[in-house]
Amino acid sequence: MDLKAFVAKLDKARDLVRIKRPVSTKYEIAAIIDLVDKTTGQAVLFERVRGYGTPVIGNLLSHRRRFALALGVAEDALRKEYSKRVKRRIKPKLVARGPLMETIVERDVNILKEVPVLTYRERDASPYFSSAVTVARDPVTGATGMGIYRIQVRGRNEVSLNFQNPPLTDFLRTAEAMGKELEVAIVVGLDPLTFVASVFPVPPGTDRFDVAGGLHGKAVELVKCRTIGVLVPAGAEFVLEGRVKPGLRVHEGPFGESGGTYHEGRNPVATITAIMHRKKPIYQALLSYSGEDTTLLGLLLEVTLFESLRAEHPGIISVALDKFNRSNLIVRMRKKDNGEPRKVLKQVLTSAPIVKTAMVVDEDIDPDDPCALGFAMGTRFQPKRGTVVIDETRSSSLDPSAVSTKSGRVSSKLGIDATRPLAAPKEKFEMVRMSKKMKAFAKAFEKQLKVEAARARLHGSVRRYDRPLDPVIDPAEWDANR
Ligand SMILES: Cc1cc2nc3c(=O)[nH]c(=O)nc-3n(C[C@H](O)[C@H](O)[C@H](O)COP(=O)(O)O)c2cc1C
Repeated sequence: MDLKAFVAKLDKARDLVRIKRPVSTKYEIAAIIDLVDKTTGQAVLFERVRGYGTPVIGNLLSHRRRFALALGVAEDALRKEYSKRVKRRIKPKLVARGPLMETIVERDVNILKEVPVLTYRERDASPYFSSAVTVARDPVTGATGMGIYRIQVRGRNEVSLNFQNPPLTDFLRTAEAMGKELEVAIVVGLDPLTFVASVFPVPPGTDRFDVAGGLHGKAVELVKCRTIGVLVPAGAEFVLEGRVKPGLRVHEGPFGESGGTYHEGRNPVATITAIMHRKKPIYQALLSYSGEDTTLLGLLLEVTLFESLRAEHPGIISVALDKFNRSNLIVRMRKKDNGEPRKVLKQVLTSAPIVKTAMVVDEDIDPDDPCALGFAMGTRFQPKRGTVVIDETRSSSLDPSAVSTKSGRVSSKLGIDATRPLAAPKEKFEMVRMSKKMKAFAKAFEKQLKVEAARARLHGSVRRYDRPLDPVIDPAEWDANR
């Protein structure tokens, strides 16, 4: 399954909005992606992009249900299936040709002529690749490594790559020590499984195309690049081939990053030597600091943490990133004694840099419901006995409040035990509820309330934080009037 086949699947599942009005790559597409992410939560396809014949897809994996669709399972089976398949390794297969090679540009390379690279946020310095998977080879061992790195378009054929994490930071260091250029292939528009595999944590030296093969259940087909010795997926939409100059660093940024603040740095530069793309490609956008970041980072954490935690604490039911604060991790568990949540908190706060705060809740608390989490804080958490503070622990490089040290950025971290004491009567801590029967009874009034809410919104009396309501407009009426 390639990206196009996945988009067709989303269409069939009615999980795709099509925008037919012409829109610009500069800010406009990003603003609509943001709105769709915060309202219907669907993927969004921009059919007419000003100045380009290429459609743009956004919010591809901004909801977990779409990753479940890519794996071909129901959403509630996602973690189990993903954990199972991600352990398999199937080696990629070299093929002579692929759809990626339908158009090849080797002369007068001009990135923005071929690729509708987006400018996302108000203060972004220029167009940025944010969904590109950069593939390279270890200059000594020849092993393949890859990752998602933000990439700034600096000129017709020049980009700057934000290399902060291995494996490409290591490859570049090795190449520079040898006085050599590092060859990089910047791949945009992968199928969702290969895309997710490209950032799955693996031991150094592991080829993530083997992980992608495991997720697919068959070998990923690779083709040779034209001007560099790197292999890339034959079914990708775009590949930019480049050479990173040894020793050179330039100012790169600002770019609105996944933590929600702007970042800049001194980063290496690559000259693009060739571009390959499909005859009718789709460009994959990725809005940082959106649901898509939360899904990508959350799933990785969930899968990697869940099993290691469960081995020691079998009462753990789920581990999930907070939808509204992606540095907060929520662990739901049936504790065996009153000390167990503190042990779990210490473990999660020290094992994942992006986790800055964590909360343990009982099994009756829905981690997806902010009201239930607030309830647990208000009624089950006692600050003096339930707080865990850990100092100087490895933190996200994107947290501006963290402190730089010789060994990297560190932060203090906070854990909250919001579980009820085991000895206390359960009823004292029970959350008030309406019966199912009464909920069904009240539902009959829903339509009237939606109309009232729409009126109130027109009147300006609905607050910003009120929950978005389902559309009040009748779809048939909408289609007829468009
Ligand atoms: C959406 C997204 C964007 C990322 N952007 C960057 C980046 O700009 N620079 C960087 O060094 N790592 C970035 N990362 C992380 C790396 O792609 C990835 O974590 C790294 O390859 C992990 O390699 P390792 O597991 O071998 O350490 C990003 C990850 C995601 C999911």
